[in-house]
Amino acid sequence: MELLQNRVAALRDKLETYARAYYEADAPLVADEVYDALFHELETIERAHPEFLTPDSPTRRVGGRPLEAFAPVAHRLPMLSIKTETDVSAGGAESFDARARKELEYTPTDAPVEYLAELKFDGLAVSLLYDNGIFVLGATRGDGATGEDVTQNLRTVRDIPLRVKVAAGSAPPPVLEVRGEVYMRRDDLARYNERARARGEKPLVNPRNGAAGSIRQLDPKIAKSRPLRFFAYGVGAVEGWELPATHAGLLDALAAFGFPVCEYREVVRGAEALAEFHARMGAERARIPFDFDGVVYKVNSLALQARLGFRSREPRWAVAHKYPAEEARTRVEAIEVQVGRTGAITPVARLEPVFVGGVTVTNATLHNMDEVRRKDVRVGDLVIVRRAGDVIPEVVGIVPEKRPMTFALDDSVEQTPLYPPFEIPGTCPECGSRVVRAEGEAIARCTGGLVCPAQIRGAILHFASRRAMGIDGLGEKLVELLVRRGDVRTPADLYTLTVQQLSTLERMGEKSARNLLASIEKSRDTTLARFIFALGVPNVGEATARELARHFGRLSALMEAGAEMLIDIPDVGPVVADAVCGFFAEPHNRTVIERLVAAGVHWPESEGCVDQPGLLSGLSFVLTGALPTLKRDDAKALIETAGGKVNASVSRKTSYVVAGDEAGSKLEQARKLGIPVLDETGLRQMLDVPA
Ligand code: IVH
Repeated sequence: MELLQNRVAALRDKLETYARAYYEADAPLVADEVYDALFHELETIERAHPEFLTPDSPTRRVGGRPLEAFAPVAHRLPMLSIKTETDVSAGGAESFDARARKELEYTPTDAPVEYLAELKFDGLAVSLLYDNGIFVLGATRGDGATGEDVTQNLRTVRDIPLRVKVAAGSAPPPVLEVRGEVYMRRDDLARYNERARARGEKPLVNPRNGAAGSIRQLDPKIAKSRPLRFFAYGVGAVEGWELPATHAGLLDALAAFGFPVCEYREVVRGAEALAEFHARMGAERARIPFDFDGVVYKVNSLALQARLGFRSREPRWAVAHKYPAEEARTRVEAIEVQVGRTGAITPVARLEPVFVGGVTVTNATLHNMDEVRRKDVRVGDLVIVRRAGDVIPEVVGIVPEKRPMTFALDDSVEQTPLYPPFEIPGTCPECGSRVVRAEGEAIARCTGGLVCPAQIRGAILHFASRRAMGIDGLGEKLVELLVRRGDVRTPADLYTLTVQQLSTLERMGEKSARNLLASIEKSRDTTLARFIFALGVPNVGEATARELARHFGRLSALMEAGAEMLIDIPDVGPVVADAVCGFFAEPHNRTVIERLVAAGVHWPESEGCVDQPGLLSGLSFVLTGALPTLKRDDAKALIETAGGKVNASVSRKTSYVVAGDEAGSKLEQARKLGIPVLDETGLRQMLDVPA
């Protein structure tokens, strides 16, 4: 028991360190597989021993059962709103500074006021209450006085510390309410949407809706599945802790307590410096990975803030200075469809070029047929386009009164729209194969499979992508040329390319040809998880690929697995199981895999099962004899919590026999069958449980 409890403490410690490095420093210390395995192990132990559960365990981020409704939370201090200046350029900063100086009764000869300038994050405001350093209650702003209890959902946000970080020996504030914003990064959203589309689910419209919509869901699994993040920007109720003298100092203190605080913040003096920050951040907007719709100016001194006080629901010491919206109106010239790697058909609006959010937009996605219908976008419509979270601009909606209509001389004849509603074509524009939309799916697909050039291109690009085989220098243009010329029909063809072949391509010199070949060469050395992901099995994303690799350890085992075996794997449902079986049942796919292996693509087999801590899933053990320190039951519990199985008798399928003193016939049997034998030290090493 004590051993297990130590293990729990060690696991929590490691998980927290790894998560911090990953989420806060963006510098992972271990492979995702290792993190996941440790996490899974902790979860399993806690399930078996609920007495070990604590509110700050990293597993609590998983969220509990769906709620019937959110409970109301009365805010101890109201959550205020903030006055907004939409005045472009310097105007907003000047009028705010002038107002503050007037309220403070400053004369023109008084020194400039010191401000803290921050970004105005475009997400959802939340309040996080820490009781003696432990996260106990999370709430939305609601009407400012009463919000909703969204603790379960907020626990799933990895950025939100479950425990306040303090130096060893010192205590956290007895009561600390941290306020800030839950948001999503644009790249995270794009990746999330890509997967959602591949699964035939609805993509999120933009990061703001993504963040706000996730936190307001009753089922915490939804929030957990979304890449949410958090920035702290202030405090509410605080007891037993002396606040720093300035807002800047407060944010530094929150950062030291382990809360993420946005790096784009600056202490400045006077209106001009505020306006300069507004302009500079505005110019950086496209390069900063998350959306912000303006900047916030706050009087830095907390004493001055207190002197300025509030006016109705807004503080006099802060203002939001917005940027003009990144939306514009333009006409739809045509609606076309694009074919993705799984054959998914995406309608795309071709637009009269329009300048939005710093770039000229000529295309915008319409996502899928349901979206097109809902918005009823037609050729000729005047539409509002937005460049938001997704890198791909989107059509927000149409301006109905500007729809081109039939011309009627006689008032009694009703005008009708000039263009009909858009329909998905019945055949694929790339290969002419039939387009079908499965019952209940939002997405229509081309049935052309391997004869469809669009699907071939998509499959190759996916195979080569960074998180799959990581082949640098193989971009869209190049793949298009290679596929069009027939040099590449399957991913296996990449490994037969030659310098001669490549250097005859447009804009490809010998040097870049050699670089590309070197990068293809390098990709031969990979991992099973990456390889499975690279194959592009429908519905198998990175996480599932990892899970499959971990479970099976060998590609051959995965290829032979039946649906009933696959379904036993965590996170694998009937849809994925079917997709996997279907993929490997296809002779063509098996041929491609054989050719890839013959071309030298390789990975450590059984990777993830044996050499990583806690990763015993798929392995079976037989215990025999007396171990020096571990009781039989403890050893069994350790193996099982790490995902391994313990059997009573040795067979050819046994992975390991763990033998202690006076081991008898089972040990003999193991030797006879050539099954590896471990002693207690060996088992501990495998489990990463030191004696
Ligand atoms: S300070 C009294 N700082 O703006 C001012 N708010 O607050 C309290 N917001 O919906 C808020 N970024 O979610 C503050 N850096 C920032 C902010 C920020 C975004 C949002 C907040 C709320 C609204 C008014």
